[in-house]
Amino acid sequence: MVGIRRRFRYPPRPLPLAKSTKSSRRAASGRAAARSRPDERLGIWIFGAYGGLATTLVVGTRALARGLRPPQALVTESDAVRGIALQPLGGIVFGGHEIRTGDFASQAAEIHERTGSLPPDLLRPLAKDLAAASRNVRPGVMPNAGVAIRELAPKGERRERLRAQVERVQRDLQSFARRNGLDRVVCVNLTSTEPPLRPKPAHRSLAALDRAIDGDDVRAVRPSTIYAYAAASLGLPLVHFTPSNATLLPAIRELFAQSGAPYMGCDGKTGETLVKSALAPMFRYRDLRVLTWQGYNILGDRDGRVLANRTNKSAKVATKDGLLASILGYPLHTHVGIDYVPSLHDLKTAWDFVHFEGFLGFKMSLQFTWQGCDAILAAPLVLDLVRFADLAARRGESGPMPHLACYFKQPLDSREHDLHRQWRLLLDYLDRVRSSAPRRRGR
Ligand SMILES: NC(=O)c1ccc[n+]([C@@H]2O[C@H](COP(=O)([O-])OP(=O)(O)OC[C@H]3O[C@@H](n4cnc5c(N)ncnc54)[C@H](O)[C@@H]3O)[C@@H](O)[C@H]2O)c1
Repeated sequence: MVGIRRRFRYPPRPLPLAKSTKSSRRAASGRAAARSRPDERLGIWIFGAYGGLATTLVVGTRALARGLRPPQALVTESDAVRGIALQPLGGIVFGGHEIRTGDFASQAAEIHERTGSLPPDLLRPLAKDLAAASRNVRPGVMPNAGVAIRELAPKGERRERLRAQVERVQRDLQSFARRNGLDRVVCVNLTSTEPPLRPKPAHRSLAALDRAIDGDDVRAVRPSTIYAYAAASLGLPLVHFTPSNATLLPAIRELFAQSGAPYMGCDGKTGETLVKSALAPMFRYRDLRVLTWQGYNILGDRDGRVLANRTNKSAKVATKDGLLASILGYPLHTHVGIDYVPSLHDLKTAWDFVHFEGFLGFKMSLQFTWQGCDAILAAPLVLDLVRFADLAARRGESGPMPHLACYFKQPLDSREHDLHRQWRLLLDYLDRVRSSAPRRRGR
């Protein structure tokens, strides 16, 4: 299987990627921050291309690129990144894999009908852009996807061996880059939340996973394993925005270490959990002891329907529930409920009840209600993450990106859940990028 990886040389114009050694990082950092020219083209390859979040991302990025809306809610368009050359929005090209039929225009119209978030005056001028992006969408893979996800796809899927699926995904990515004349590609996982995958010996090393794939051991993988394998094997950065635990398996991370690409996950922190991670430190600062934190989420849409499945939901609850004890530093009674309420569509509502103890042991409570449009909250985060992942790859960084912890409910390899400290990590990283950039004359 090493042969396959060697055969797929990628990207067409090689990135200054290097293995994660201190010296290579130092060597790369000098050419870092000022390198993205306005005419460079970055591909964003979305696994789960026609989902609500993915469609909002595509519409939103093209709308900003055409100046139809101001760039609100993007860190990568704020003062925080001043002096750092990020990929310009106009040079971003979209493509992806999807298991349902359709196109971006019809998905966007459907979203608008339900939530009112993508109005016709925004979609009309983007008709050609959306058609062009739809031409870059290819049929996805679905090994061991579980019943809730299988039901989304049309019946009668042709059975394809796992190795053939990996190779097809690799070919799709390569041809996307070639046909669109792309300088670089970043992959992002926005597929439906998969049922958790139980740890298996096949996950422990790349050699073991390769044997499982060659032996067509379907139970050892989920769709996101195949996607992550393909991205890692081609040396492409990966943003893992879902809670699915089958994506960044130890074996996949070994493959990323070999190809030297950066990656980060898991599960975007967009709504209720974001508020939790900002509020919980306040209780710590004032030594107010939290006794109970109950959270109850109701949401509709396809995401809500998939999460109505008990096993798919368990993956989400795990990422939403884990952070409080870690921020507060002691165990407490917590519960996260998620219920499917079809009429809400993407307008999710969360109600949280916090019971806490103050001076003289007196008990008090805080309640908040969060009403957000899930995709509107998440799309700018994905765009930030992709541009930061691209920056990291151009700087020759590889492996997990801990400075992006503030974007995730379960940041990889990080125990830091406190939003304030996570934000500091990002600002410190951006300072390092700025200080390693070559000085420009006359400034
Ligand atoms: N605020 C948010 O929207 C938010 C926050 C954090 C995480 N997420 C996660 O992001 C993901 C996408 O959210 P969404 O609201 O867009 O959901 P969605 O159901 O609208 O989109 C998921 C898309 O993935 C497609 N898909 C499923 N399995 C696939 C496969 N194997 N290959 C290719 N395509 C596949 C589906 O057909 C669908 O189009 C979910 O896992 C969700 O939990 C979303």
